[in-house]
Amino acid sequence: MQRKIIIDCDPGQDDALMLFLAFASPEELDILGVCAVTGNVPLEKTKRNICILSDIVGNKNVPMFAGCDKPLETEGATAEYVHGVDGIDGIDIFDPVTKLEPKGAVEFIIETLMSAADSEITLVPTGPLTNIATAILREPAILPKIGEIVLMGGALREGGNVTPSAEFNIYVDPHAAKIVFECGRPIAAFGLDVTHQVFTTSQVLDRISKIDNPVAKASYGLLSFFGRYDAEKYGTEGAPLHDPCTIAYLLNPELFELKPCNIRVETESQLTLGHTAVDFWGSTGLPANANWAHRVDRDGFFDLLVERLSCF
Ligand code: RIB
Ligand code: CA
Repeated sequence: MQRKIIIDCDPGQDDALMLFLAFASPEELDILGVCAVTGNVPLEKTKRNICILSDIVGNKNVPMFAGCDKPLETEGATAEYVHGVDGIDGIDIFDPVTKLEPKGAVEFIIETLMSAADSEITLVPTGPLTNIATAILREPAILPKIGEIVLMGGALREGGNVTPSAEFNIYVDPHAAKIVFECGRPIAAFGLDVTHQVFTTSQVLDRISKIDNPVAKASYGLLSFFGRYDAEKYGTEGAPLHDPCTIAYLLNPELFELKPCNIRVETESQLTLGHTAVDFWGSTGLPANANWAHRVDRDGFFDLLVERLSCF
């Protein structure tokens, strides 16, 4: 049975691999639309990047939408130092055939959810949560239509990657993240605690280099570029493959271990803005509002990724 999903992202090389994995899985996933948000690079680039990636996977029927160009309240931040000035550095940038829909992403999310049955649609955000939160604020009646929010964001044991205590997606728009974590719908959260278990080593890149299709070739270029910054920062081989964890979970949840936790987001303190207070040991007594991913079968994850990249 296909799961209906709406993807919201900020490509980003790891967002690109997430999209490739999703588009390689039509048996399991019915992608209703792909939305872009300001994140790794400004919306001007992320909205172009989703169209470029759409061309690369040969997409002809999934619509692309541009969303919010700035966070709800904060100045936000971008990450060209990680992803390059184009956001998907590592491949040639070209003028895509795929065009954006005239409708905005928030309008698309609201319309699609309002015409769905309760719990029918899964949201998969892998960038700052601005589009999702804006849709909830504009039309709270969408909430019962959301079956699950499977997001990449947050950090507990790993600490932050943009400040000592905050992960990038949450830090860029902490007010949006607070709205999403407090929305009352089922959430599966894939933060740095789990994504830092799936670094793209040379062995992984070597496996991908042996796949003879345009998507795998693009993946190799993207990951070769993406690996350089985090490898230097963390002294590791390769970079953590954050965003594909969301789609891998939808395809094979057995790959991951998740624990129901209460997760709250810091929106006031300048020191810890965007921190996700993941109550892993239940010390607050507050009810769980999310399932926090904390372990992954690394080999199984990369076997799935390589297998699906071979499908194009
Ligand atoms: O902190 C990692 C997250 O921030 C990933 O989603 C990456 O693409 C950036 O959006
Ligand atoms: Ca992302």
